[in-house]
This record gives sequence, structure tokens and C-alpha cells, in this order.
Amino acid sequence: MTRTLLLAAAAVISITGPSLAQDVAAGEKQFAKCRACHYITAPDGAVIQKGGKIGPNLYGVVGRPIASYPDFKYGEGILTAGAAGLVWDEASLVGYVTDPQEWLQANSGDPKAKSKMAYKLTKGQEDVVAYLASVAPAVAADPAAVDPAAAAPAADGAAPPAVTN
Ligand code: HEC
Repeated sequence: MTRTLLLAAAAVISITGPSLAQDVAAGEKQFAKCRACHYITAPDGAVIQKGGKIGPNLYGVVGRPIASYPDFKYGEGILTAGAAGLVWDEASLVGYVTDPQEWLQANSGDPKAKSKMAYKLTKGQEDVVAYLASVAPAVAADPAAVDPAAAAPAADGAAPPAVTN
């Protein structure tokens, strides 16, 4: 009986686990498109992604105030959004990478804002943002830990095997 329950629990974990991991893995592949301009380096100097310096370091960008990486020369538009006190979350990042200029115009308070990021990601935005969320200090890396709702959709789709005895 106990053994059956354990097996059932293990089966549920194995169904829900990889779907999350897959998004992050797919996002890591997608990040190849960002590397021309962005790198990811942890505060202790550990290099997570080598890349260009045309854009700011993206380590821990989920939960980071907009346009706040030190020593990066941001454009006026994104600085206006940052000055308004906005902080990146997963939804705003999906919008931003889809069309940075349009996102700034809609969210900075300046309808004519210009973006210095000359790139639009047209598919897989959620994956790349899931990957960005994973390259961060431990607390920010697991949205399910702070928001139980984030873990719910995967659990809904996975029918747990019937426990017969
Ligand atoms: C052609 C170069 C280029 C590419 C490719 C590029 N970016 Fe950027 N990115 C920039 C620049 C430049 C900025 C600064 C924007 C500004 O100052 O207006 C920026 C800013 C950002 C910011 C805001 C960071 C902050 O500190 O507020 C995020 C997030 C971001 N990029 C994510 C991405 C992601 C994810 C990809 C890949 C899908 C990507 N970028 C691809 C050049 C690029």
C-alpha cells in the first residue's frame, strides 16, 4: 500500500518535473540569439553565458528594477521606465523581448520612447524568460515556491495514475 502510493507519487513527479525543465532547456537554447549582445555573469564573477556587451548583463534580471545594471549606458526610453519604479517580472519580460520599443512606448509613460535593443523575439519568449528566471539567486529561481498558482497548470494536465488498493 505504502509502496503503491510512493510509486504513484514518483510517477506524478516524473510527469510534472520534465515539463518545467524542458522550458528552461529550450530557453537556454534560445538564449543563443541573445548572446550577440548579452552575457550572463554572476556577482561572484562566474561566467554563465559568454556574450557581447552591447546589452547589459542579464544575470538575475527577473525581479531586477528595469534599467538598473550598473555601468551600462541605457537609452532614455528604458531609463524613463526604470525611473517610474518598474521591476522586471516574467510577464513584462515576455512583452519586452517580443517588441522592446512597443513595450517601452506602452509602459514607460512616453508614447514616443525609443529602444536601443534592436531585436525582437517572435517565438519561444516564455522559454527564454523561464531560462532567465533560472539564472538568478536561489530565491528568484523558483517562481513556484513563491506563487503556488505557477505550478498548478502542469499538475492539471497530468492525470495521476489510479491507486487501486
Ligand atoms: C542586437 C543586440 C541585442 C540582442 C540580439 C538582444 N538584446 Fe536585449 N538589449 C540590448 C540593448 C542595447 C539593451 C539596452 C536597451 C536600452 O537601453 O534601451 C537591451 C536590454 C535588454 C533587457 C533589459 C535589461 C535591463 O537591465 O533592464 C532585457 C531583459 C533584454 N535586453 C533581454 C534580451 C533577450 C532575452 C534577448 C534574446 C532573446 C535579447 N535581449 C537580445 C541589445 C540586444
